Amino acid sequence: MDHETLHAYLARKVSDADLRDLLDQIASACWSISSLVAGSALQGQQGDSGLVNPQGEVQKPLDLLADVVFARSCAAHPKVATLISEEVEDVVTLKDPKPGDFVVSYDPLDGSSNLDVNLSVGSIFAVSRVSNGYQLPTGRDLICAGYAIYGPSTMLVLTVGEGVNGFSLDPETDTFFLTHPEMMVPEDTAEFAINISRQRYWDAAILKYVTDCIDGPIGPRGKEFNMRWTASMVAEVHRILVRGGVFLYPVDANNRAQGGKLRLLYEAYPMALIMEAAGAAATDGRAPLLDIHPVGPHQRTSVVLGSRAEVVQVAAAYD
Ligand code: AHG
Ligand code: MN
Ligand code: MN
Repeated sequence: MDHETLHAYLARKVSDADLRDLLDQIASACWSISSLVAGSALQGQQGDSGLVNPQGEVQKPLDLLADVVFARSCAAHPKVATLISEEVEDVVTLKDPKPGDFVVSYDPLDGSSNLDVNLSVGSIFAVSRVSNGYQLPTGRDLICAGYAIYGPSTMLVLTVGEGVNGFSLDPETDTFFLTHPEMMVPEDTAEFAINISRQRYWDAAILKYVTDCIDGPIGPRGKEFNMRWTASMVAEVHRILVRGGVFLYPVDANNRAQGGKLRLLYEAYPMALIMEAAGAAATDGRAPLLDIHPVGPHQRTSVVLGSRAEVVQVAAAYD
């Protein structure tokens, strides 16, 4: 194999040694979570834990285990001041935050409804720096974002600002290798992803956009569209990075009171940074997700991301 290792890639691309170490620690957390996911049936870690997270969602045993693994890996780094996790109500302050210290926001296990049915799940994370004492990072503060996907193979997909690179875990050596350099999302696509069972709750704009796709060659779009839904944002984003597509989890009449379904800090922001770095777009339907100002750690948002031409079509449907 002549692929570059993640370690060598980081040494080449990330000049700040502290950030490099943090990304190494995060990669090792993802490697551990990958083993936990793979062994979950054998270890009796399937089903529900009987507990709920800050958003009132049932937690799986692996949601909790993955959170502990991720938090421990980050906390072992001397410059991580703050952790924001999907599974933890309050922002966790690890040390007196100094300017330049790191804030890590993460969803330790995304798509966890797929665990018991052996479909792809993942971990999502974003890194920013403490600026003026403690505050929630905005999208434009992020210096790095990524996700791990635990699928047929485990991959780590990363942006450190410029470009998006995908690393595959070699199970023989437990090492991530660069297999997908400079991933770019095609501008155009004929594939969309939305949970269509929520149709009766949609705004008129989303209904129009999806109806036009489904009408295919006989509708205003004049071309055939395909649909995919895996109920795992990591898997949808990965598919979009590899072959294009658009993913929608809009605010609708059923989730408007909470602000949507997906969480801004550890789901929408990191995926938006990755999308923008891969030449794609990520909005709340109208405006860039990275421009939304956060007001709480578990704030939710509407999400439309992927191939630029389709994200623009959705915005046009709103106008
Ligand atoms: P999580 O498992 O962290 O709660 O997130 C699941 C999210 C996202 O991954 C996925 O796109 C969406 O919820 C699935 O929603 P539906 O259950 O409506 O399909
Ligand atoms: Mn999630
Ligand atoms: Mn989760």
